[in-house]
Amino acid sequence: KNIVILISGRGSNMEAIVRALQAERWPARIAAVISNRADAAGLAFAAGHGIPTAVVPNKEYASREAFDAALQAEIDRYAPDLVVLAGFMRILTAPFVAHYAGRMLNIHPSLLPLFPGLGTHAQALAAGVREHGATVHFVTAELDHGPTVLQAAVPVLPDDTVETLSARVLEQEHVIYPRAVRWFVEDRLTMARGAVQVNHQ
Ligand code: GRF
Repeated sequence: KNIVILISGRGSNMEAIVRALQAERWPARIAAVISNRADAAGLAFAAGHGIPTAVVPNKEYASREAFDAALQAEIDRYAPDLVVLAGFMRILTAPFVAHYAGRMLNIHPSLLPLFPGLGTHAQALAAGVREHGATVHFVTAELDHGPTVLQAAVPVLPDDTVETLSARVLEQEHVIYPRAVRWFVEDRLTMARGAVQVNHQ
């Protein structure tokens, strides 16, 4: 299976997926890591691991539609079976999402449907929830609303700050995202007509 990973920054989830793929010898390869920002730190890790990298700079496109068309063309050069959004900080247009229906995953740092959008850790602290976490989901046209594949929960502690809470959540992201991607490349995870199926045999 060919995987294309999209990042915008640090790329720690991408790194966790690359490391798990190598350590566990998944039937898959990372065909490319693509960023909308040339300064994304994760590009260096990918290049250092012999993974092709590309940058499609969103600022150079006049519209979301034009950017998404260019991004789609770049992604499709690698004939992906799966597109993995890993801290990719762009809102995607409906045609782009439709093109990858059932083969594009995202990770969001909250227990969806709680706290969609940005600043999830601050939102969780402000809401006073006792539990927070992360969600892997298939991407659909509505931002942060696709069908859930996997969630991990962590406690919110009395002294938590955005930094301590986000670190606790990120550690779990690095567990659940590789697991979900592995299910997909092993043909155990599908989405059909909006319903997620996982074969746990
Ligand atoms: C993660 O918290 C992810 O859930 C969110 O953006 C962050 C990306 O971190 N979508 P990294 O680039 O994977 O380190």
